Amino acid sequence: MSGRFITFEGIDGAGKSSHIEALALWLRARGQRVVVTREPGGTELAEALRELVLHRSMDAMTEALLVFAARRDHLRTRIEPALAEGSHVLCDRFTDATFAYQGGGRGFDAEVLQTLEGWVQQGRQPDLTLWFDLPASLAAQRRQAVRRPDRFEAEDEAFFARVRAGYAARAAADPGRFSVLDAAQPLDAVWQQVQATVEARPWW
Ligand code: TYD
Repeated sequence: MSGRFITFEGIDGAGKSSHIEALALWLRARGQRVVVTREPGGTELAEALRELVLHRSMDAMTEALLVFAARRDHLRTRIEPALAEGSHVLCDRFTDATFAYQGGGRGFDAEVLQTLEGWVQQGRQPDLTLWFDLPASLAAQRRQAVRRPDRFEAEDEAFFARVRAGYAARAAADPGRFSVLDAAQPLDAVWQQVQATVEARPWW
């Protein structure tokens, strides 16, 4: 049987990363095979593109093209083969991040993003997307602890408010795929939400 494709989304500072590892452990303890990966990245080529996107100056269209180029390689050489052999794929960010950051944050044309999404994904969508939602002001406080910020982490609160609105629009358009988690709560409480959401799916 094919594996499940689960993505993790949210503005920088939402705290999703620790939950990905926790969910991988939780599923493996139940005898499931799990691949943990991230975007942009997840393959040698896509990780090289990630370096450019996070640290080189470029316009929003170039950003969008590079993240979709990275995604194409990642899907073709890593995600699709893993799902086909029955592994679940837990991916730290996917296309909703492009709609939220390049679309919402940078104001890039959502119709162009939809075209790229169709070309690159050939109908593939996550089975479940966990959106770690919290206000941009709270995320900014949490990000203060971050070491040298990348091009996105260095953006102001207004940018992240637009990114959050971008996620909200994607979630509203596909409520069956999205699960909205209250990421303003303490880590333990957020993990309880993650576990309950995943456990409630009829897949296990
Ligand atoms: P992130 O996933 O937050 O990694 P880390 O926790 O190591 O900082 O960093 C990836 C950044 O890339 C994040 O700020 C969002 C951005 N991004 C986009 O702008 N578009 C995309 O399509 C994706 C996948 C990420």
